[in-house]
Amino acid sequence: MVIAIDGPAGAGKSTVARTLAQQLGFTYLDSGAMYRCVALISRARPEVAAAELAKAARIELGGGTDAPATRPGPGSVVMLDGRDVTEAIRTPDISQAASQVAADPGVRTAIVARQRELIARGDWVVEGRDIGTVVAPHADLKIFLTADPQERARRRAAELGVDPGSVLEDMERRDERDAAREHSPMVAAQDALLIDTTGLEVQDVIGRIAQLARRLRADLGDAPAS
Ligand code: CDP
Repeated sequence: MVIAIDGPAGAGKSTVARTLAQQLGFTYLDSGAMYRCVALISRARPEVAAAELAKAARIELGGGTDAPATRPGPGSVVMLDGRDVTEAIRTPDISQAASQVAADPGVRTAIVARQRELIARGDWVVEGRDIGTVVAPHADLKIFLTADPQERARRRAAELGVDPGSVLEDMERRDERDAAREHSPMVAAQDALLIDTTGLEVQDVIGRIAQLARRLRADLGDAPAS
C-alpha cells in the first residue's frame, strides 16, 4: 500500500509522513532528500550535467521510521556516495539549489525511476511534491497538505532555529518555482484529499490520515482494521 503526502515546505509533511509510517508500520520515503543530494553534488561538480550526476549518485536513505518524529527536520540519516550528508543537505542554500535542479527534466527522470523502484514492493508513506501526480499516480491514498505561508515559515524557522522573517521569502521563492515549473509542478492530484493544517495540531492531522489508511486497509482486506 502506498500513501502519498504532497505539499509545500513547512506544511507539516515530514512530521506527518514519518509519524504515520511509524504508526502503521510502513516505510517512510523522503523524496525531497534525493533532490537535495543531487543539488549538493551539483554544487561540488558544476562542470557535469546535473542529470548525469543524478543518474550516478549513490543515495541511501535511512528508512526514517526509526528516527524520533519530534526531532527537528526530517531526521533520518542520508548517505550520498558513502558520505553522511544528513546535515549538509538541510541548509537554506541547498533548499534553493534543490528546487533549481528539481526543475531539470533529466534529473527528475533519473530520480523518479529510483523512487518507483523503491516503492514497487511493500507498504510506504512517501512525501514530496509530485508523488500523487507522477511518482505514484495509483497510490492508495493521496493527501495534499497546505498551511498559510506565515505559519509555514514559523514552523520551518522553529526547526532551523532561526527567525521566521528570514525563511518566509526563501520559502515563497521556492514554492513559486516548484509550482510554476514545466515538468511535474507541485500540484494536488485531482483525487487527493486537501488538508489545510493552519491552526491544527499535528497529532490531529496524523490521526485523521491514519484512520483513513486503516479503513482503506480493512477494505482492501489485507490487514485488520485496528
Ligand atoms: O522539506 P521541504 O519541503 O523544505 O523540501 P524537500 O521536500 O526536502 O524538497 C526540496 C526541494 O526538492 C523542493 O523545493 C522541490 O523543488 C524538490 N522536490 C521535488 O521537486 N519533488 C519532490 N517529490 C520532492 C522535492
